[in-house]
Amino acid sequence: MLAQKLAVVTGAARGIGAAVARDLAAAGCLVLMVGRNAEAIEEAARQLRDSGHDVLAHVADVTDASAVAALAARLRREFGRADILVNNAAVFLERKDFALPQAASVLVVDPEMVAATHACNALAPLRLIQAIVPLMRENGWGRIVNVSSGMGQLSEMGGCWPGYRMSKAALNALTRLTASELEGSPIKINSVCPGWCRTAMGGNGAQRTADDGAKGIVWAALLPDDGPSGGFFRDGKAIDW
Ligand SMILES: NC(=O)c1ccc[n+]([C@@H]2O[C@H](COP(=O)([O-])OP(=O)(O)OC[C@H]3O[C@@H](n4cnc5c(N)ncnc54)[C@H](OP(=O)(O)O)[C@@H]3O)[C@@H](O)[C@H]2O)c1
Repeated sequence: MLAQKLAVVTGAARGIGAAVARDLAAAGCLVLMVGRNAEAIEEAARQLRDSGHDVLAHVADVTDASAVAALAARLRREFGRADILVNNAAVFLERKDFALPQAASVLVVDPEMVAATHACNALAPLRLIQAIVPLMRENGWGRIVNVSSGMGQLSEMGGCWPGYRMSKAALNALTRLTASELEGSPIKINSVCPGWCRTAMGGNGAQRTADDGAKGIVWAALLPDDGPSGGFFRDGKAIDW
């Protein structure tokens, strides 16, 4: 069995997930980079390996229950452990122009689109947590980071993009539920907002880079034993739910 910590990062082919994978590998982890496009995730892993990082690719669509079960089976078979889970993969299926009623109004939003957004942004993290926490328990240590968004904050909930906002609010509920159930155990779980970052999802208008956004996620993934659990953070500082 590995002595090195094994980190699973979903949606690691590009954007914030790729930066998190690189930074966790630079911190000494073996990183399993998970992506749904085989060519893209293998190329992203190859690039990081070429620059000396200890990473492997794993092809899985996180919304596919059998693919998540196969991922858990690989972790058990090949490594006998999973220490860190970063639930980063997510979709933003709404139109970005908030002047459009399809983007702006909960009264006309397509419920099928809301369901598809939930499947990736909230239910897939639930499935991954259910699949991987048993391995963390066996090894007596675990860190889970649910990559959330300020758009999921109930305290800030305004109009626009109801599918994405509801999915991240549900993800935050998953963080609280899991933290409550794991209280007193050596497994910590937190939600982290990376801030508005220049990625395919964030667009070109953001001031922060994917590297900036990755920092707070890596901080939560490597929390010491006296670190927090069940919180919501941006840049290592607590924010409102
Ligand atoms: N960028 C921002 O401003 C911002 C702000 C707040 C929160 N966030 C959050 O930060 C995280 C990363 O966002 P990002 O900006 O880096 O987004 P991104 O560039 O769109 O990357 C998302 C990644 O998730 C993958 N993915 C999507 N659905 C998947 C599925 N079903 N199975 C496996 N992988 C899947 C994508 O793979 P494909 O290449 O195959 O599509 C892609 O690699 C997300 O949770 C997002 O909600 C971002």
